[in-house]
Amino acid sequence: MTVEETLKPLFEEINRLKPKFIQRLADAVAIPSVSGDESLRPEVFKMSQFLKSELESLGASDIQLKPLGIQPPPVVDPKLELPPIVLARFGSDPKKKTLLIYGHYDVQPALIEDGWNTDPFKLIEVNDKLYGRGSTDDKGPVIGWLNSIEAHKNLGIELPVNLVCCFEGMEESGSIGLDELVAAEANAYFKGVDTVCISDNYWLGTKKPVLTYGLRGCNYYQVSIKGPGADLHSGIFGGVIHEPMTDLFNIMSTMVDTSGKILIPGVNEMVAPVTEKEAKLYENIEFDVDELNLASGSNTAIYQTKKDILMHRWRYPSLSIHGIEGAFYGGGAKTVIPAKVIGKFSIRTVPDMDSKTLDKLVIDFLNEKFKALGSPNTCVVELIHDGAYWVSDPYNDSFEAAKKATKLVWNVDPDLTREGGSIPITLTFEEQLKTNVLLLPMGKGDDGAHSINEKIDVANYIEGVKTLSAYLHYYGA
Ligand code: BES
Ligand code: MN
Ligand code: MN
Repeated sequence: MTVEETLKPLFEEINRLKPKFIQRLADAVAIPSVSGDESLRPEVFKMSQFLKSELESLGASDIQLKPLGIQPPPVVDPKLELPPIVLARFGSDPKKKTLLIYGHYDVQPALIEDGWNTDPFKLIEVNDKLYGRGSTDDKGPVIGWLNSIEAHKNLGIELPVNLVCCFEGMEESGSIGLDELVAAEANAYFKGVDTVCISDNYWLGTKKPVLTYGLRGCNYYQVSIKGPGADLHSGIFGGVIHEPMTDLFNIMSTMVDTSGKILIPGVNEMVAPVTEKEAKLYENIEFDVDELNLASGSNTAIYQTKKDILMHRWRYPSLSIHGIEGAFYGGGAKTVIPAKVIGKFSIRTVPDMDSKTLDKLVIDFLNEKFKALGSPNTCVVELIHDGAYWVSDPYNDSFEAAKKATKLVWNVDPDLTREGGSIPITLTFEEQLKTNVLLLPMGKGDDGAHSINEKIDVANYIEGVKTLSAYLHYYGA
């Protein structure tokens, strides 16, 4: 039988199971497994149990929930447990290739007050789109793999590869603990893995599928400034004491200009130059500034040409300021001087930046700027987490299989893209398991990952299950 002949009934079964697949995603979305919110850590654990029971009912073997111990500082609760890595296998036939699939079962925070139209943790279908936190990032794709396995099982079709599942619950918080686990299991649980497939990214736009061979890294920092013994009245102490928030604004505003240029000396100097070959790559990608504006819901683009936008998203570093813990943030006009404030920012990293060198440049720079203020407050700059960038070559068996799968399901050749986001474990898989990694996305560029009203189109979810299934068969053939 040809691969296409095998896939035909499988695709029909996937269509038939659509209501069940949507329900399975709804059950997953209903668990608010937010890794960044310490108070929701029990929900992240609950999500690992949910996956375990789904894997059990699908007939997985050797299911293990690997504990990762206590979360290292900075944390509020010094005894906070990290959520486990969920490992499972389907098949161990030495004649078949072995594929490791990775995804994450934690999600970004979401509050209805942020502006969601509906409860973020209740999956709702409106106009052929499924709204809910994690629908596209990354519960949809993780559940998508399980759906594919179910369709195979129902029809008694053997999986064409041995599958090793590795699902983590801390990706949105820097994948703390996973590097060590992958290194420890490289010659144990992960022995014999031939390639790695990650479905945790999106099409570049809304019309054309992509396969992805690069990601930026992410180094996340915090700057804590404190002085007064308690929050104070600005009428009584304003103009009389050094204010932590004023210090913080002063030093944080020196890191980047308003067109996104990083001003910390030495950072841009580490970036690899653009080669002629690379410069040509951007021409063939389907994308334009309108698509960016649509996705951002605004007209706020810094660059207007496709090439500039893509280069700044994929191959140049960026510095974003995320928030200030401890600052007054409510409505109204509170006349407070906050006693302690913690500024949060991150830098997206690219070839050939060295992570440790970057940390030193950033920390020394801010400490120096603070010193120059002559403030008696105290200032501590720390790294919260880091994850490496990854760029590979999209010409190998795994990418070829994914190209065929995408072509079969979507009837178009995918664009080959890099991404500006980060999946910290990607490079570790490549190095520790000595294999290629492929990023095979399910959702669209306008899905709104991390944003309000995150969604996945029903078509992307269901055709995505077909794409993952077809990939398994082309790769296994
Ligand atoms: N799925 C994303 C990674 C991603 C983002 C891929 C954008 C493609 C485009 C992932 O869940 C994510 O959000 N990662 C974090 C990692 C960070 C906390 C180290 C990110 O990029 O902010
Ligand atoms: Mn993700
Ligand atoms: Mn994410």
